[in-house]
Amino acid sequence: MRGAVSPPGPKGHFLFGSLLDAKRDELDFLARVVREYGDVVRIRMLNVLAFVLSHPDDIESVLITNHRNFAKSVFLTESQSLLGRGLLTSDGDAWREQRRMVQPSFHPQQVARYSRSIVEQVEPLLENWQDGETRDIHQDMMDLTMKIVARVLFGDDIASETARLGDALRVFFEQFDERFGFYLLPQWLPTPGNLRYRKALGELNAMIVKLIRRRQAAAQGNGDMLSGLLGALSESGKALTASELRDQMMTLFFTGHETTGLALSWTWYLLAQNPRVETKLVEELRSVLGGRLPSYDDLRRLPYTEMVFKESLRLYPPAYAVVRKALDDCEVGGYRIPSGATLAMFQWSVHRDSRFFDQPGEFIPERWENDFQKRLPRCAYFPFGAGPRICIGDGFAKTEVPLLIASIAQRFHFDLVPTHPVLLSPSLTLRPRKGIKMVVRRR
Ligand code: HEM
Repeated sequence: MRGAVSPPGPKGHFLFGSLLDAKRDELDFLARVVREYGDVVRIRMLNVLAFVLSHPDDIESVLITNHRNFAKSVFLTESQSLLGRGLLTSDGDAWREQRRMVQPSFHPQQVARYSRSIVEQVEPLLENWQDGETRDIHQDMMDLTMKIVARVLFGDDIASETARLGDALRVFFEQFDERFGFYLLPQWLPTPGNLRYRKALGELNAMIVKLIRRRQAAAQGNGDMLSGLLGALSESGKALTASELRDQMMTLFFTGHETTGLALSWTWYLLAQNPRVETKLVEELRSVLGGRLPSYDDLRRLPYTEMVFKESLRLYPPAYAVVRKALDDCEVGGYRIPSGATLAMFQWSVHRDSRFFDQPGEFIPERWENDFQKRLPRCAYFPFGAGPRICIGDGFAKTEVPLLIASIAQRFHFDLVPTHPVLLSPSLTLRPRKGIKMVVRRR
């Protein structure tokens, strides 16, 4: 630590620092500072001191080797109004205990059971789409993954509530996106946006609490995640309290559909621009499935489908950044990082680094052949994060998304609508700003 210096970075505005530059176009700003200042960049946003880490070895030291010195960051406090102190936002012993209690619900055997709900939910969609119609495919994918996760979490109880839950969540996020990055606007100000935000949050809470109470009153499980969590006990034999259950179910509801919906949307976007890849994918699906819907057991016979998903997560990682706060002064990449500083690690830029990926901007699923990942530095590719806080749902996502790609790509092809540009909107996740309009073509 002695002798270590502070990393370089842009000077920015005397009051706002780089906040306004970053807000204007976050990903462009990121690319610029990484290009200009290197693997560790110091950035001030108002009173928040942040460091962008772009070398996999430095990322490994924060997320894995020295993870005890880093906590979840201030950037998550905004989302605590939605997610409470569930798995994603909690820290320390409270987080460890929760992780132990939730983990059994993600055992591969459970995931194999959930796979039936996944395929069941896609069937009506395949029936409904009309050849030649223009749709917002992103909205369709979000609706689909929301129905799936609702079913997996709450079983049949949810069927009549899913649409309302989705509407409230949409309003909540529209307002959340408007607020994101503007720390000057406190939530208690009665602006129209803040009022809509609070109303949507109240509705979401009420719905989740009602579903939990109904199940508690029924006093019998039915194999969904809620039953698993109602029966889970901590090491000291305690069950989750009502508010812990709410936080956990809300966290899983949000994390369980937002990211997978995005992964699918970006996959259709990439396939529409890469006909060679699409043809190869459809050939694999035809030869293995011959027109029927896939099952969990089919997945190991669909290696190209898996590589398409992997490559899509590389270019458009739905969770495009992982953020931590340093608890003590430390050294990263030879630079001094003070306690309290924010460390931001962007999958978005690391996954596109030409030091690790040839033709980094191209969509080439074949790059993952022959155990390519094993030859990469550990954190050069980390769509699900790394270390103890790695995504608890990665096995679920690696089942759900390929099953849905296989089910849909076998029957449909999508063309982008040229007059509808697809713009990136980085917020809590990496979304397309005004959706992805596509013409649906039946094969
Ligand atoms: C393509 C899909 C997904 C992606 C890209 C993704 C990405 C991530 C990432 C990067 C993290 C780590 C965040 C950090 O370290 O700060 C994370 C954590 C988490 N994810 Fe996912 N995720 C996906 C799907 C899912 C699904 C399907 C679920 C649940 C059903 C889920 C639930 C969670 C939870 C609860 C955490 C917090 C875990 C903890 O801190 O112990 N995710 N995810």
